[in-house]
Amino acid sequence: MIRSVVRGFGAALPKRVMTNRELEDIVETSDEWIVQRTGIRQRYVAGEGETTASLGADAARAALENAGMSASSIDLIICATSTPDNTFPATAVDIQNRLGIHHGFAFDMQAVCSGFVYAMATADLYIRGGMAKRVLVIGAETFSRILDWKDRTTCVLFGDGAGALVLEAEEGNGTNADRGVLTAQLRSDGVHKEKLYVDGGPSTTGTVGHLRMEGREVFKHAVGMITDVIEAAFEAGGATADDIDWMVPHQANRRIIDASAKKLGIPAEKVVVTVDLHGNTSAASIPLALATAAGDGRIKKGDLVLLEAMGGGFTWGAVLVRW
Ligand code: ACO
Repeated sequence: MIRSVVRGFGAALPKRVMTNRELEDIVETSDEWIVQRTGIRQRYVAGEGETTASLGADAARAALENAGMSASSIDLIICATSTPDNTFPATAVDIQNRLGIHHGFAFDMQAVCSGFVYAMATADLYIRGGMAKRVLVIGAETFSRILDWKDRTTCVLFGDGAGALVLEAEEGNGTNADRGVLTAQLRSDGVHKEKLYVDGGPSTTGTVGHLRMEGREVFKHAVGMITDVIEAAFEAGGATADDIDWMVPHQANRRIIDASAKKLGIPAEKVVVTVDLHGNTSAASIPLALATAAGDGRIKKGDLVLLEAMGGGFTWGAVLVRW
């Protein structure tokens, strides 16, 4: 059985760090409120010349270097993003060009904060279906550019950045001892559109729009949706919470992360948390957290890693991958 095995990881962050204290000068908020409600202490904000494509390309270069592979050996690029450089062409195609790749194919994946989980599931299908052998899976965002900086209920939550993995086809035995993606479970339900959306778009207002969120409503659904889809991934992957070496959740809110892990019985020391440093970087948050924890030696070859996310749509999903 063909498996999609992680060969390399990388990350890229804008130069500028914005602390909670700086936000106190922009909206009526406080470091204490933000830390207590979300766990966020700072976020990175893209400056001039830094875009979703530039950050995504930098993260991809870092992942290729980590894998010891050349860009020319990549045959598919998937970029998960909701903040593309342009309405079209896809940011992934721009990244492909920035990497000097002129063969194969590239496309974007739009599932908001669940984008990276959707992109991993998609890459795995392309690899197992034989249409690609080496895939760059990127999550890249510049949410700072769709925030309403007058709205304290949203502008304090998000940040910019990018992360990437290189996946490669490898023959496995078909058991959950194999390295690579073991299962991916995806869900969506558009009935929740109004709870988290951007109030503009090419086909409606002709503008880019700003992020709007009923935070409390999102919070109310988050833990149940996340834990349900993780249980489905455990069943499909033949694993239990006890088998998990690392849980790498979408980094939206420390309280959602803690409550989900607790409900599943996954101890806090097995949960990778970077929301304090990065804020919510939407589709970039999981690959940024993976690059952090694999980079500092926590996630090791052979570890069973659980990825999960929930976001606008709503969309949600979970992936089990043996590193
Ligand atoms: N600073 C100070 N006070 C604030 C701020 C702020 N930045 N924002 C809101 N408040 C106030 C509110 O006005 C409210 O005041 P009131 O009681 O006088 O009305 C009070 O704080 C409490 O507001 P709540 O919205 O009830 O606060 P809550 O504890 O729910 O925390 C938060 C808000 C952090 C947004 C939380 O609801 C949350 O994290 N929701 C989920 C977000 C999420 O996970 N999104 C999913 C992924 S994102 C994506 O897909 C793009």
